[in-house]
Amino acid sequence: MYKARIVGTGSYLPERVLNNSDLEKMVDTNDEWIVSRTGIRERRIAADNQATSDLALEASKEALASAGIKPEEIELLVVATITPDMLFPSTACILQAKLGAKKAVCFDLNAACTGFIYALSCVKQYLEMGTYKTALVVAAETLSKVTDWQDRNTCVLFGDGAGAAVLRREQTERGVMGVYLNSNGNYAELLNMPAGGSKIPATENTVRERLHFLKMKGNEVFKIAVQSMVKSANEAVRVNNLTWDDVKFIIPHQANTRIINAVAKRVGVPIEKVFFNIHKYGNMSAATTAVGLDEVVKKKGVKKGDILELVAFGAGFTSGACIIRW
Ligand code: ACO
Repeated sequence: MYKARIVGTGSYLPERVLNNSDLEKMVDTNDEWIVSRTGIRERRIAADNQATSDLALEASKEALASAGIKPEEIELLVVATITPDMLFPSTACILQAKLGAKKAVCFDLNAACTGFIYALSCVKQYLEMGTYKTALVVAAETLSKVTDWQDRNTCVLFGDGAGAAVLRREQTERGVMGVYLNSNGNYAELLNMPAGGSKIPATENTVRERLHFLKMKGNEVFKIAVQSMVKSANEAVRVNNLTWDDVKFIIPHQANTRIINAVAKRVGVPIEKVFFNIHKYGNMSAATTAVGLDEVVKKKGVKKGDILELVAFGAGFTSGACIIRW
């Protein structure tokens, strides 16, 4: 039985910390509101000269070092992001050049906050089929660059970061197990970045009207986020013939502490099994679960054979969950 086993992980968070009191000076908000409504205390912000591929590069180097694998060995490189360096070429190709992953087939994948899980599920197929033996999956975001820093409804929520995982085709029972994915394109108007694509190309007007920033109807998204994550979390356990008792850690997307608590309560997982880093980083879209996986593996004493679940929800809407046997 061939599996796509995760043989190394890495992450990178930009140095600059923006805390809630900094935000109080920028928009009409306060630390008490942000902490009680979201759980976020601070977030990381990329430097002006740091693009998404730069964050991705640092996370990739760490993942490759922990796997003991050279860039030239990578055959498949997938970058999950909604904040690519530019619309084209892909951030994966830009990263390939920076990393020296000469042999790799490279492409980007856009599934917003569920991007890392979608990318793992995609790479899993290639490795299990034997098309490729070694893959690098990176989830990297510079959301600060598409955040409207005049909009208190959104600017308190997001941050920048990158996480990476190296996967190898191995004859083993360990690795990425069954994945559950779901998409629903009927809610695009609740969460999007309106301009800059083919529908509303960039003009002076689109800049003036602030249409190149992320827009979200937060409280409408909230309810669907909880329902979707509960469904995905439960389905991934079910399709793998597991019970929640088998799961050692659940690593949920970190959009809001209240969403995570509601999901944990509804699926019936003790909160001690649920990983949180939202207070430090806010919502980093696709990078969130990738950074979470790296932190859980390195800081929570994950052992061989432990079952982990990643679960996420994001723009699209997309949702999904992935079981990993470590
Ligand atoms: N500071 C102070 N007050 C604020 C702030 C702020 N930063 N932001 C909003 N408010 C106010 C609102 O104006 C409103 O005031 P009003 O009652 O006078 O109109 C009040 O607080 C309540 O606003 P709501 O939007 O109803 O607040 P809510 O409790 O829903 O929290 C939040 C907002 C945090 C955005 C929440 O709805 C949420 O987390 N939504 C889901 C986000 C999510 O899951 N996104 C998906 C992934 S993101 C991706 O894919 C890129």
